[in-house]
Amino acid sequence: MRSLRTGSALASLVTGLALLGTAPAAHAADTPLRDLADAKGKVIGTAVTGSKLTGTYGDIAGGQFNALTPGNAMKWGSVEPVRGTFDWAEADRIVDFAEAHGQQVRGHTLVWHSQNPNWLTNGNWTPAQLRQLMTDHIATEVGRYKGRVATWDVVNEPFNEDGTYRQTLWYNGLGTDYIAQALTAARAADPSAKLYINDYNVEGINAKSTALYNLVRSLKERGVPIDGVGLQAHLILGQVPSTLQQNIQRFADLGLDVAITELDIRMRTPSDSARLAQQAAEYRQVVNACVAVSRCHGVTVWGFTDSDSWIPETFPGEGAATPYDENYAPKPAYYAIAEALGGTTTPPTGACTATYSVVNQWNTGFTGQVRIACEGASLSSWRVNWSYGAGQRISQAWNADCTQSGTAVRCAHASYNGTVPDGGSVTFGFNASWSGSNPVPTVTLDREI
Ligand code: G3I
Repeated sequence: MRSLRTGSALASLVTGLALLGTAPAAHAADTPLRDLADAKGKVIGTAVTGSKLTGTYGDIAGGQFNALTPGNAMKWGSVEPVRGTFDWAEADRIVDFAEAHGQQVRGHTLVWHSQNPNWLTNGNWTPAQLRQLMTDHIATEVGRYKGRVATWDVVNEPFNEDGTYRQTLWYNGLGTDYIAQALTAARAADPSAKLYINDYNVEGINAKSTALYNLVRSLKERGVPIDGVGLQAHLILGQVPSTLQQNIQRFADLGLDVAITELDIRMRTPSDSARLAQQAAEYRQVVNACVAVSRCHGVTVWGFTDSDSWIPETFPGEGAATPYDENYAPKPAYYAIAEALGGTTTPPTGACTATYSVVNQWNTGFTGQVRIACEGASLSSWRVNWSYGAGQRISQAWNADCTQSGTAVRCAHASYNGTVPDGGSVTFGFNASWSGSNPVPTVTLDREI
């Protein structure tokens, strides 16, 4: 460990803030969401990636949620990439983790048009072969987890936006009855599992949700096993349907359960405090709608952290859609969910953020700075941490006490600048070497202990 504190002169801002990385200070946890949801008889779930279930990610997934949905691990392309060759590793890992943490599992998903293995998609099947493949797949997967997976998204996304059936491998080969056949096969494989049809853009009352309504009503009338509908709820900031609760209620009135299965609320990035506050209000609105209808089983978020969300890749320039930021700090949306589940916690009214930037760079070295700014919050001490991924080494720092050990850098306030008042900021700088590339690290901001 080397200590690198030097004088107090500020680096000159030669090239401006070309590269930025920010992180808010973490807030202490309140009553876990899962305890609040348990007390209301509701599910609060999250989609997860099996390989990430350790460390902070595992602590939050296990500590805050009473249900898990594998985000990808149970899809056909994941479990049977080669015909007859199965890979259950990630799915098993998630189910084992859930059992170790007293959580339910939502199985996702058995019959879908996407994320199927190439051998299946590219095959030339007769209707009889296709039906056999589908029912065998359901028997194998549901059978494997019999008694361990509480709920299955048996059929995923069967409709187009106008309420017509989506033209898929299944619809084209088997007609609309593939849905009843899939549900019947799932019931046979695990009679105690709850069976759902799941879709997106069916949260409000519209042509698509009405098509879903008419389908499940007719399935029930025909005696086909169907227990519930999943409303995915991949929502856009400012566009929560006003008819959400009314729509949940009309499905409930058919004698079906309803679940919000994949909630996220995306916005243009970078986020700001106004948009995060609006997002919190909208998360609250969604959870409230579920809490208000007794047959609404619960709410699952599609990833709990912005670092494990499908949004930025699929919608470039959008993101910040989940209740925790990329550094696992709970966002206002987290506190809104807690309150909608009956928690009494008061969300923090503001935050302090650390912003890393490269202000000047030459062929072997660069000058960097970190600015710590508070809005609606304050600090009496601080420490900023980051890890250099490309061999950068700090040689000199000013206005902070910086140490680097391997890739890990830790910079604590100097004797004279630990206080950051509400509306104020503190900046420190450093010189460092680089070669090859100089990526901006993710920084975390803590109160110094
Ligand atoms: O696993 C490969 C990895 O080996 C490879 O290096 C990498 C390169 O891109 O891709 C990885 O696969 C990605 C996979 O997620 C796992 O991360 C796929 O490209 C990517 O397309 C896939 O996206 C998933 C998406 O479904 C596919 O449609 C998202 O993670 C997943 O969150 C998303 O979930 C769906 C629900 O199942 C149904 N409802 C909509 C929802 C969002 O699209």
